Amino acid sequence: MQMIKQGKDPLDSVIAEVNLVENDPEDITVGYGGLPNEKGVVELDSSVMHGPTHNAGAVASLRNIKNPSQVAKLVMERTAHALIVGEGALDFAKSHGFKQENLLTDRSRKIWLKRKETLSDRDFWYPPKSEKMDPELHSFMESHGTINCCALDSTGDLAGATTTSGFFFKIPGRVGDSPIIGAGLYVDNEIGAAGSTGFGEANILNWGSYMVVEYMRQGYSPEES
Ligand code: GLY
Repeated sequence: MQMIKQGKDPLDSVIAEVNLVENDPEDITVGYGGLPNEKGVVELDSSVMHGPTHNAGAVASLRNIKNPSQVAKLVMERTAHALIVGEGALDFAKSHGFKQENLLTDRSRKIWLKRKETLSDRDFWYPPKSEKMDPELHSFMESHGTINCCALDSTGDLAGATTTSGFFFKIPGRVGDSPIIGAGLYVDNEIGAAGSTGFGEANILNWGSYMVVEYMRQGYSPEES
């Protein structure tokens, strides 16, 4: 909000905002300290979209870089691409000088280890509710983090960013809705902006953020949309 009030670009402002959470080791659903995949590796997804230029960038399954939203912005600004994944995204970030670091904190490692030690005897990667599951672990399995931040500046320009460590104990390489433009984030500078948290697969199937903006275009309020 301070940046918006200073007249900074709304995209820089929302990225600065989500960086606070990406850098926070206590948040276990975004950036540094986010819960890892089933191999114990943190893989991050993020997208950004800039209303005035109607341009966007995204990264998925990005390892070892704690601010995927900043890398997503560079994808938007410095390439002709919209989405870069995995090793390619890491190489791209490194070539822009991003520092590699282990994103697994002691807390997130312990939660992962507990999950490993209590693997289901059923053929689900993500077991359904079970009486046997440790209640604390169950709450982590059920909690879907992710943050989205959208902003409107005083000149009427919009921007948005979505960032996440995705599903806890996901299959390595699983990509959620957050880096999918139209699903985890969508901005139309004339109409509005929307972004999502929650169970990404459901949102990918419904292209949620795009639909919200489209309903606003039809005249529905943001809440109705
Ligand atoms: N909404 C975040 C995810 O499903 O990965």
